[in-house]
Amino acid sequence: MNKKLLYLETFGCQMNVHDSEQMATLLSGEGYVLTDDAKKADLILINTCSIRDKAEQKAFSELGRMKVLKEEKPHLIIGFCGCLAQHLGAKVYSRASYVDLVCGTHNICNLPKMVAAVEKEKKKITQIGFLPEISSLGIFAPPPAGSFCAFVSIMQGCDNYCAYCVVPYLRGPEISRQPDDILHEIEKLTQNGVKEVTLLGQNVNSYGKNLETGAHLVSLIKKINEIEGIERIRFTTSHPKDLSGELMECFACVPKLCEHIHLPVQSGSDRILKSMNRGYSSDDYLQKVERLRNICPQISITSDIIVGFPGETPKDYQETIDMMEKIRFDAVFSFKYSERKGTAACKLSGQVPEAEKSRRLKELQSLQDRHTQEKNSTLAGSIQEVLVEGRSKNSAQDMSGRTRSWKIVNFPGGPELAGKLVNVGIIRGYLHSLRGEVQS
Ligand code: 5AD
Ligand code: SF4
Repeated sequence: MNKKLLYLETFGCQMNVHDSEQMATLLSGEGYVLTDDAKKADLILINTCSIRDKAEQKAFSELGRMKVLKEEKPHLIIGFCGCLAQHLGAKVYSRASYVDLVCGTHNICNLPKMVAAVEKEKKKITQIGFLPEISSLGIFAPPPAGSFCAFVSIMQGCDNYCAYCVVPYLRGPEISRQPDDILHEIEKLTQNGVKEVTLLGQNVNSYGKNLETGAHLVSLIKKINEIEGIERIRFTTSHPKDLSGELMECFACVPKLCEHIHLPVQSGSDRILKSMNRGYSSDDYLQKVERLRNICPQISITSDIIVGFPGETPKDYQETIDMMEKIRFDAVFSFKYSERKGTAACKLSGQVPEAEKSRRLKELQSLQDRHTQEKNSTLAGSIQEVLVEGRSKNSAQDMSGRTRSWKIVNFPGGPELAGKLVNVGIIRGYLHSLRGEVQS
């Protein structure tokens, strides 16, 4: 088989990163080898995200960069994949006529056939149909060489229809994978050196909802805990409305489950939460956080927050700030509301001016930076278990890994530590990482 080069650019969330791994695996069966130089590629795939307008702009500007490459090398195949491809379908060609194929979120498994058809028939191919069953999730993507952490998709799609969100429209209804398939995939990952798995889904707390077997996230986690070779389990993303007491108890009674939860709150105002269709009140959220901390006092809690949702008054925004002060998250991913065509929020009045959204975001982020810095500083003097992932990005003398609470730790050490669980004494906490020393 002739060796051909694939350049794959990924935008957006972990789900997209995982989809890209699957694309690379499928295409390796057709002789494609990854390159990080787009100029050398025979096939370029852009895996796009559509969650906010900024992500869309980035994908199109990257696609624009590829136009000259196609002009220089007419046999180059350019594919547009992911959520934005799903949204636009064949309209992509009117914006960028040099694109050869458009592949939607359910059609990854057909990519090799689509590429072969473009090569042979020299015509454009578009596939954006939703398939009734789990389509691409079962593709086994071996982790990149030297990595000890892997993502495992346990479900696709979402049924929640939060008012601001395009995901249910672009990834389809929620469907859970069979637990045996997931367990089998994780066993295979351990044979490839993986020690930590992160279970992925838009709302993992409702995993199993449509399975006849009665499986749910708690039973799945408990089974993964029994797999030899797996040392750590994580899951993301959790929806507060579906976070059960039984799942919270797992943080105390399932030894391999790491003490971290990503629990997007989105807003601290009951009026806005209702308008967002989130299905919980600020009080419900606070109670869940309190219960989590009672069950597992060292748990780290991270969140997502949107500022400037339509109708968000200064009072609503202040309620979000008050909630942050009460909870003191370990970290927050915060965003300005971005209007997405076709979502319920488009019909709402009370758009917040861009400058005001920016002001709120900046203020909120500096508050969160203060909280994160303070939380990280209090870890100085503690001993943390770290799964060593590899060399630190900042220094050739340092290795790097994450604590069970998902914080990055840098410490002096050599490559022989990679893939090991070590105890690290924390010397100092910074905003984005901790500094430490391996304990002998
Ligand atoms: N505008 C801004 N942020 C959004 N998110 C989802 N949709 C939008 C939107 N239209 C954020 C939410 C979600 C995270 C993945 O992205 O906070 O939890
Ligand atoms: Fe979007 Fe809400 Fe589903 Fe998350 S739970 S993917 S925010 S609709």
